[in-house]
Amino acid sequence: MAYETLLTEVDNAVAIITLNRPDALNAFNNQLMDELTEALDRFDNEATIGCIVITGSKKAFAAGADIKEMREQSYLDAYYTDFITRNWERAARMRKPVIAAVSGYALGGGCELAMMCDFILAAENAKFGQPEITIGVSPGAGGTQRLTRFAGKSKAMEMCLTGRMMDAEEAERCGLVSRIVPTDELLDEAKSVARKIASMPRATAMMTKEMVNAAYETTLSQGVLFERRLFHSLFATDDQKEGMEAFVEKREPHFNNR
Ligand code: HXC
Repeated sequence: MAYETLLTEVDNAVAIITLNRPDALNAFNNQLMDELTEALDRFDNEATIGCIVITGSKKAFAAGADIKEMREQSYLDAYYTDFITRNWERAARMRKPVIAAVSGYALGGGCELAMMCDFILAAENAKFGQPEITIGVSPGAGGTQRLTRFAGKSKAMEMCLTGRMMDAEEAERCGLVSRIVPTDELLDEAKSVARKIASMPRATAMMTKEMVNAAYETTLSQGVLFERRLFHSLFATDDQKEGMEAFVEKREPHFNNR
């Protein structure tokens, strides 16, 4: 499938989606959002794919929603079309693991998209921010909620109220990113992590993702119960038998994703 605003690549069980509007620092116009939604949908439903990487260019993961496209929008246009949120949350509803590999700017909707992914690998040159207030709006794709959960109220409040950017080290310190990688190695490292995840028993990986996500949606006791129920259910899989037998027999497991 050919896209105009994305590049896609499939490397065995890993799909890589590269945001590709270099002249606009990968700003999200409607076409990019439609194409991204389509690509995410396709890879989430593609049986051979076990993990997805979303990345951008060295200079920008994405500089946010396209301000030139947004500027003429009226309140009622935004309301009736459910502006941007219409298909924005697709990344957050992915069932397969999704890694954001962020180099350069991840601003506004770019930061929000990265936070919808399961974890963020940051290049040394990464910069995160919610600068919407400086152009008269607020974050609109979950930024005030997810940044607050990931980085805490004080930092999220300061970032959203001032629009300042944080660098990769600050983002790692506050728990927004899982770790920092040398800029030129980011994509190779993201692919390598994605291959590792894709090699795990598929249902176990998908359910583990659901369990971790439940920590953000429920109380501790409900989350622990949810974890236990899914944990028990994994004993119904071939891969549990194979994984444990392989350990006992001191050999590599051969998972069949059943
Ligand atoms: C449209 C954008 C853009 C954007 C950059 N460009 N960001 N176009 N929408 N969000 C365009 C510029 O107009 C310019 O095009 C080209 O990309 C290069 O950008 P420069 O500004 O010349 O680059 P630089 O000086 O290096 O500055 C980089 C930057 C700056 C700091 C990232 O571009 C910037 O501040 N961008 C806006 C960031 C922002 O406010 N994001 C939040 C958007 S609102 P030309 O044609 O001039 O060469 C948002 C709301 C989300 O995301 C709501 C929910 C989904």
